Amino acid sequence: MSTANFINKISQGDCLEVMQHFESESVDMVLTSPPYDNLRTYKGYTFPFEAIAKELYRVIKKGGVVVWIVGDATINGSETGTSFKQALFFKEIGFNLHDTMIFRKKNPIPQIYRKRYNNEFEYMFIFSKGRVEKHNPLMVDCLHAGLKLNGTTYKNYSKREQKRKKMADPVKQQKIKGNIWEYVVGKNAEDQEAKKHPAPFPCQLARDHISSWSDRQDIILDPMCGSGTTCKVARELDRNFIGIDMSQEYCEIANKRVSNVQMELPLIP
Ligand SMILES: C[S@@+](CC[C@H](N)C(=O)[O-])C[C@H]1O[C@@H](n2cnc3c(N)ncnc32)[C@H](O)[C@@H]1O
Repeated sequence: MSTANFINKISQGDCLEVMQHFESESVDMVLTSPPYDNLRTYKGYTFPFEAIAKELYRVIKKGGVVVWIVGDATINGSETGTSFKQALFFKEIGFNLHDTMIFRKKNPIPQIYRKRYNNEFEYMFIFSKGRVEKHNPLMVDCLHAGLKLNGTTYKNYSKREQKRKKMADPVKQQKIKGNIWEYVVGKNAEDQEAKKHPAPFPCQLARDHISSWSDRQDIILDPMCGSGTTCKVARELDRNFIGIDMSQEYCEIANKRVSNVQMELPLIP
């Protein structure tokens, strides 16, 4: 068995066991969201985090990226901090912590806790094996596009006022988007087919990450794919996918979702 046996399939099983069949450095990108503490009970899962993280390091290609989307439970009045512990462990085993991004929910669940602001975000840690190789950044319009700057002085945070030799170019039209991304959760039409899973992430979130950190025909792995959002979107974007989940029920949802995408021949046979 090799990585190729799992391409463009949803496999039911413990991701740790399934990934052991993969060749080293055979996956271009990972996009996943693990179970958050014991916030939800997924049917009979076990979650050996450290072993899974090490296996991800083994299977990802050099320059490849692991997007790890996670939040913390609040237990006895304190956030667990599991997300930070996991991020530090990823660093310990060799990953770069390339960026700590925020997934902000436009429609967060109202909170029952008192004396606390409503929690409306999760972390999106971007880990890379060595320097990130692929980045197709999302762009946004500059607020002051076209503005001509008078004078030759400018402020630099650390060096204070600086002088440049010639006049600066006008402010450009677009710049790279910031690292806080906002989404409506669970309400968009394209997300409805994932409703039977307790915690799917929005298709648009998967679309933004997959297009940012991979190219067409790449292999995108989601080792805890739940309702198969990563796999469905990877396929739509002409990438190959590998989906794994412990639960037979979630694998069925994932299979249904990917088969609704116009699947032509596998990109990699
Ligand atoms: C937060 S959910 C992922 C949701 C997914 N991103 C989506 O859009 O539907 C986490 C998933 O991890 C699965 N899981 C937990 N432990 C696992 C393991 N050891 N191997 C494979 N899947 C596991 C659970 O069944 C659950 O579906």
